[in-house]
Amino acid sequence: MHEPVKILVVGANGQVGYELLRALAGSAIPLNPPSQAKGEGSDAAIGRKEEEFKTPFGTKGVAAQQRGDARERYEAIPLNPPSQAKGEGSDAPIGRKEEEFKTPFGTKGVAAQQRGDALARCKVIPATRDGWLENGAECERIDLADLAGLNAALDRITPDVIVNAAAYTAVDRAEDEPDLALRVNGDALGVIGAWAARHGARVVHYSTDYVFDGHATRAYREDDAPCPVSVYGRSKRAGEVTLQESGARHLIFRTAWVYAARGKNFLRTMLRLGAERDELRVVDDQIGAPTPARLIAKTTVTVLRQWLDDAGPARDGVYHLVAGGRTSWCGFARAIFDRADIPLDPPSPAKGEAGHAVSLPPTTGNAGHPVSHPPATGNASHPLPQEGGRAQRGGMPPHAPRIVAIRTADYPTRAARPAWSVLDTGKLRTTFGVALPAWETCLDEVIGDLAH
Ligand SMILES: NC(=O)c1ccc[n+]([C@@H]2O[C@H](COP(=O)([O-])OP(=O)(O)OC[C@H]3O[C@@H](n4cnc5c(N)ncnc54)[C@H](OP(=O)(O)O)[C@@H]3O)[C@@H](O)[C@H]2O)c1
Repeated sequence: MHEPVKILVVGANGQVGYELLRALAGSAIPLNPPSQAKGEGSDAAIGRKEEEFKTPFGTKGVAAQQRGDARERYEAIPLNPPSQAKGEGSDAPIGRKEEEFKTPFGTKGVAAQQRGDALARCKVIPATRDGWLENGAECERIDLADLAGLNAALDRITPDVIVNAAAYTAVDRAEDEPDLALRVNGDALGVIGAWAARHGARVVHYSTDYVFDGHATRAYREDDAPCPVSVYGRSKRAGEVTLQESGARHLIFRTAWVYAARGKNFLRTMLRLGAERDELRVVDDQIGAPTPARLIAKTTVTVLRQWLDDAGPARDGVYHLVAGGRTSWCGFARAIFDRADIPLDPPSPAKGEAGHAVSLPPTTGNAGHPVSHPPATGNASHPLPQEGGRAQRGGMPPHAPRIVAIRTADYPTRAARPAWSVLDTGKLRTTFGVALPAWETCLDEVIGDLAH
């Protein structure tokens, strides 16, 4: 009997990390896994409850409803067998290239007879910064800022595959914490890469459109010269280079404009602000493709299933992984509210509530997309246009807010952002046979998640 392949997922509470656990385990991932540590009992009750989240699509509705009441030990989850995994394509319009199976993990001795067997015999080991999953289950603790601790954790866990979904993603704050951003996004990849190279393990890592300056006139390809314009972008680029130079077998997925039905992201911010304001002013001159974390996770699993079978590094390297098409943040905002079952026209001021302009700038937030903040007060570094907005009506807007296009220049932020974040995903398609769906299709799916 061969040992199962151990897949360590670092950053399991992030948008992508969370979806990765689900994609790797299929729907079998227990939000309240059976406890090994039941004896810990009620005094170990957790209190991490996400606030009730109301949206124009209904009272929502993140995965929080099912969260546990007690901290329980996370069990490593066996992955879907290939037969189950086949069904994955039905809810993820991801194409798969059928091709010859290659010998997997020779020295690891996973004697797969067909493609997918290596992955089917895996155990998934989640890790978070504080050692707890969002559902209250205990898991491995890995803080990427603690490089010695990271190395010790790898020695203890001895993973065969390290999927790093963790990152310092506060784009604006990084301008003030460059050392920390570089340690987490850059140096930590050196530790992971060196450990993997020493032990014959493989690394899957995520990077960003922010490695580019955004001045291109066509979609960026993987071999276009990076030229980050922010601390965050430079730190992520440093991670790419460090990993590439480590000698470890690796895949780096550059993604962009990540959102999900949970977590901190543009979609959730829009819905929250939409419930509070008559008018939202949204940047219209930054172009990219909104990409659901779930699409990234499912694509990762699809690719992993093939890549683990590769005996050599021919398909190692950088791949762009974003949804198809492009839009602006403003276009994305309009598309979000278009999908709400509510009229788009705001009420006239005569009806009682004057609509005040509320700027929706790309400010701080995670991973390089404009995660907006409701402007509470004007602030010297982020001058806001007139603000105000209607009173909240139990969190539910009777109508969608009016979306007003503004320019990046109208709302300066601490960190510069690329104006053009369009990534060419042709390499992923030709190398792994993955065809990525249009961003609008993806949005329909995520909105569907919110509504149900
Ligand atoms: N979000 C985007 O728009 C976007 C765009 C392009 C690329 N990316 C890349 O995609 C990947 C996943 O992003 P995401 O959107 O899933 O990010 P996210 O939702 O912000 O999650 C990041 C995770 O990293 C964890 N983390 C932060 N610092 C850490 C540390 N020192 N040690 C261990 N864990 C730490 C966070 O843990 P806590 O929960 O404890 O804070 C969080 O769970 C990242 O590599 C990111 O750079 C994201």
